[in-house]
Amino acid sequence: MSVLIKNGRVVTASEDYIADVYVEGEKIVAIGKELNYSSDKRIDATGKLIFPGGIDPHVHLDMPFMGAYSSDDYETGTRAALHGGTTSVIEFILQTQGDTLHNALKEWQNKSLHKAVGDFSYHMAVTDFNDDVSREVVQMIEEEGITSFKTFMAYKGALMIDDGQMVQLMKVVKKHGGLVTVHATNGDMIDSLVRKNIAEGNTKPIYHYLSQPEVTEAEASGRFTDMLHYTGCPGYIVHMTCEGALNAVRKATMRNQKVFIETCSQYLMLDASLYEREDGAKWVMSPPLREKKDQEVLWAGINQGLIQVVGTDHCPFTLDQKAMGKDNFAKIPNGHPAIEHRIEFMYSEGVRKGKISLNKFVEVTSTNASKIFGMYPRKGTIAIGSDADLVIFDPNKEHTISVDTHHMNCDYSGYEGWEVTGKTEIVLLRGMVAIENGECHLKAGDGKFIKRGKSSMVI
Ligand code: URP
Ligand code: ZN
Ligand code: ZN
Repeated sequence: MSVLIKNGRVVTASEDYIADVYVEGEKIVAIGKELNYSSDKRIDATGKLIFPGGIDPHVHLDMPFMGAYSSDDYETGTRAALHGGTTSVIEFILQTQGDTLHNALKEWQNKSLHKAVGDFSYHMAVTDFNDDVSREVVQMIEEEGITSFKTFMAYKGALMIDDGQMVQLMKVVKKHGGLVTVHATNGDMIDSLVRKNIAEGNTKPIYHYLSQPEVTEAEASGRFTDMLHYTGCPGYIVHMTCEGALNAVRKATMRNQKVFIETCSQYLMLDASLYEREDGAKWVMSPPLREKKDQEVLWAGINQGLIQVVGTDHCPFTLDQKAMGKDNFAKIPNGHPAIEHRIEFMYSEGVRKGKISLNKFVEVTSTNASKIFGMYPRKGTIAIGSDADLVIFDPNKEHTISVDTHHMNCDYSGYEGWEVTGKTEIVLLRGMVAIENGECHLKAGDGKFIKRGKSSMVI
């Protein structure tokens, strides 16, 4: 199959120009003015933007968590992602404590290989570290193309590891050229605040927020960064939400450390006042939404280059699942649906409102994730030889977000009625037309596993 895209405004992390793009098979073959290839399909992109396919490195699909499974599986989740212009995702394999990484990998392969509609890779979450797991970590990097290892400093009793395990993991990951990623909040503090609130009868969603004050994230982000410094390991902090945490890492960058930061679209757009609503459970996630002042700090962090990635932490639960915690906020499954609209939100809220440039938008929604997680230049840019993952985007189209029109398998939207300017119109995945006229033309199994290499942002 060949596709010729005419007259689009090609935007990458560093360039912005009008051109034609010619795609043959899975790859971009030519970029230039007035290209004259005969092709199976021709797309007129006059007045449209052409971005590299979005990469969301933080999603949870069909994940067992807090007594439920996140409601999007690999099929519905990656399809919804494609609708919004995200062509690749990185999801999390969870090691069962006491079991091997290889068993967890097999379980996740069964969930994903025949179901994914869009491309995907995995982070390996290490929830139990010992000498056997250490050997498996090396095999994951060298044989399986899984080069990033997720850790949790919270979710005590379920996913959390202690600092001793963390440091040992960092040492082996550093030696073999991988990256340690982290959910950085202080699990002990949060656990005790949750228990105290429940004991005092404080059961509403607002107490989820009040049990995870800013200091819990700032402290853990600083501690993680210090452990990285001690071991020399490169690291990545997921879903950063607040000023305190950003400042903790800002200091570390003066030591010339490799610590990358991700925030998520919800932390740039929503704030903790939502927890005061009757339906506040819809936004119960960890870390919680913060204050308006934190949004400003995060946007600034993006422009300062301290925050390199905007993901979603997509982890949807239906209203019935959320109702598991109607009498106890600690039983509300944590997470919300977001995979579909990240690109449109960042364009509308970021570029249109003058908070970030168009190039920065591409950098944080695609290119940096590709570089940090070892997929560049195959993914994350528009260049000859790169995968033809392309988004043709109408920068002026206005639309309204609603559960009635979204494609995620979740019976509510956390953004109901939100007005957005800019819409993903056509999406190519490795040269295949994935989305056109609001329809998905790919099927389960068309998405492929991305075997990753070492980070190109780490020397
Ligand atoms: O609330 C969240 N974030 N749910 C998913 C698990 C995690 O901590 O990323
Ligand atoms: Zn997390
Ligand atoms: Zn997450």
